[in-house]
Amino acid sequence: MTMGPIANRYTRLSDIEHPIVQEGLGPFRTPKLAAAVSNAGGLGTVSMPGFPRDLAEGAREFRAHIEECAALTDKPFAVNVPVGVDGDGKVLEFTDTYIKTALRAREEDDRIAERLTVLTTSAGFPGAYVAPIKDASMVHQHKVGSTAQAVKAQQAGVDAIIAAGFEMGGHAPSKGVHTYVLVPSVAAAVDVPVVLSGGAKDGPTLAAALCMGADAVAMGTRFIASEENSDWHPYYAQALLAAREGDDIAFTGVYGPCRGLRNRASLRLAEEHGETTNPAELLRWKIESMQRAQTEGDVEDGLVLAGQVTGAIQDMIKIAEFVPAMADEAAAVLDRLAPGAHS
Ligand SMILES: Cc1cc2nc3c(=O)[nH]c(=O)nc-3n(C[C@H](O)[C@H](O)[C@H](O)COP(=O)(O)O)c2cc1C
Repeated sequence: MTMGPIANRYTRLSDIEHPIVQEGLGPFRTPKLAAAVSNAGGLGTVSMPGFPRDLAEGAREFRAHIEECAALTDKPFAVNVPVGVDGDGKVLEFTDTYIKTALRAREEDDRIAERLTVLTTSAGFPGAYVAPIKDASMVHQHKVGSTAQAVKAQQAGVDAIIAAGFEMGGHAPSKGVHTYVLVPSVAAAVDVPVVLSGGAKDGPTLAAALCMGADAVAMGTRFIASEENSDWHPYYAQALLAAREGDDIAFTGVYGPCRGLRNRASLRLAEEHGETTNPAELLRWKIESMQRAQTEGDVEDGLVLAGQVTGAIQDMIKIAEFVPAMADEAAAVLDRLAPGAHS
């Protein structure tokens, strides 16, 4: 892999040029987005496809997304599978099915094995999956929302930690520690590479992440508003670009607190706290209304997941140019502050 202006232990671990990750954006389609980010020298991620009533159908869809991404890039890319747990701490069936789907895709297709080299778990503790992911010779990164979870994940054997702070889009960690507090604590507590997630958007924010002890940034919201994200309805990106500071809101999502745009759908959840409707029906409504926002562009009655950084993003990007420019800009910021210190 060619070395970019910021090469470090995370770029070496993931075999990428720039320490810039497009993170999991389930339950939405991201094979084209993932391939665009990987082709630009970052690490793209194919997202989990959701929770269809027939899980076998979800597994087929996930496999199709992995195949589509592998056909669009010859660079490394990741998949994200959240670890869902029930009230007794038992891992939910979709997690097991989707992790096995990813591992089987690699076993059955050399092209996929060559490119799908990173598996990102998130939400619950991934302990049971560390060994199978390692046996498959994949890099295992796990997303956490607290320093204690980071230490526990490192002890279990993961290769990198994604430290996700309060301002992140989508399902936020329940402790809600802000990125500025969380990342330095995690970086001091673990030896493995740390990736900041939540609020990153450009060169200065990447430089700031590195200053706080992170080795890379992972972004969701910034990449949604991009020319290459042609799988999403254009109204979704337009709603993110139109949003200003304060237009985001936290509500109860599928696995706990979730951040998105303030609209009719999210206000309904924020006000009702899910108390007035049948829980199973409410869960299905949440998932379907998220997907309606992405596929039909229903940004008023659909849930538009997005981070606080949406208020600071006002332009569409072209990923092919944006990723290398972001790394160059971060290197220039660091050089201005401490010449030569970033490499
Ligand atoms: C639309 C959307 C969907 C998301 N879906 C997932 C998901 O399926 N799994 C996951 O681990 N994180 C998910 N997240 C969180 C992102 O992976 C990432 O942590 C977050 O976007 C980082 O914050 P940022 O939006 O400020 O960049 C989602 C975020 C958004 C905006």
